[in-house]
Amino acid sequence: MQIIDLTIDDKKSIQKVAGLLMAGFTEAWNDIEEALSEVEESLPKDRISRIAVEKDGTVVGWIAGQSNYRGNVWELHPLVVDESCRGKGIGRALVADFEACVKSRGGITIYLGTDDETNSTSLYGKDLYPDVLGKVMNMTNRNRHPYGFYKKLGYEVVGVLPDANGFGKPDIFMAKRVQASEESL
Ligand SMILES: CC(C)(COP(=O)(O)OP(=O)(O)OC[C@H]1O[C@@H](n2cnc3c(N)ncnc32)[C@H](O)[C@@H]1OP(=O)(O)O)[C@@H](O)C(=O)NCCC(=O)NCCS
Repeated sequence: MQIIDLTIDDKKSIQKVAGLLMAGFTEAWNDIEEALSEVEESLPKDRISRIAVEKDGTVVGWIAGQSNYRGNVWELHPLVVDESCRGKGIGRALVADFEACVKSRGGITIYLGTDDETNSTSLYGKDLYPDVLGKVMNMTNRNRHPYGFYKKLGYEVVGVLPDANGFGKPDIFMAKRVQASEESL
């Protein structure tokens, strides 16, 4: 498996990635056209868009992101691995590659939002107010919510947006520093 740039001329891989999105995120995109737009938006040079490709050319995963805060911060969005290829380290490899790309472009921090729309954490189906952060501190993973995956890779929960996807369906924010600090903080 190798990880390479997804480019605008690689129409076959763009179609495959859109299919992976539709399969991997059942709530996020209504149809393949919407998923294709998401993939195409990731292609300009000021963004990062990388695919994991098997030896025979099969695309098995995709990661993308864009910068914010004058390049200090990069949002990781989205990440998906073909369901039949999960649990083999491809997600971990894509994130490590993304971190290296961000580092080489001078970014300090990667952040991401990971929704809970499927009752997969203790934050689901609850009124998180008051004491939102208290509930975040005591959050538990009920059903292999992907925040467990990112935690393994060194990402920390840095906040939550209650009701982001409707009442009781929060977005969980995570971040990681990928560049050594020049000053002692
Ligand atoms: C989340 C996802 C990208 C993980 O990809 P993957 O290739 O299966 O992950 P890896 O095999 O690299 O796993 C790396 C480690 O994380 C663990 N892990 C993977 N998914 C996990 C989850 N949902 N919860 C907890 N741990 C998880 C693995 O067990 C492995 O641990 P180990 O190194 O101790 O064995 C993949 O499941 C996916 O595409 N899901 C659908 C889309 C999605 O949820 N994307 C992220 C939304 S923000």
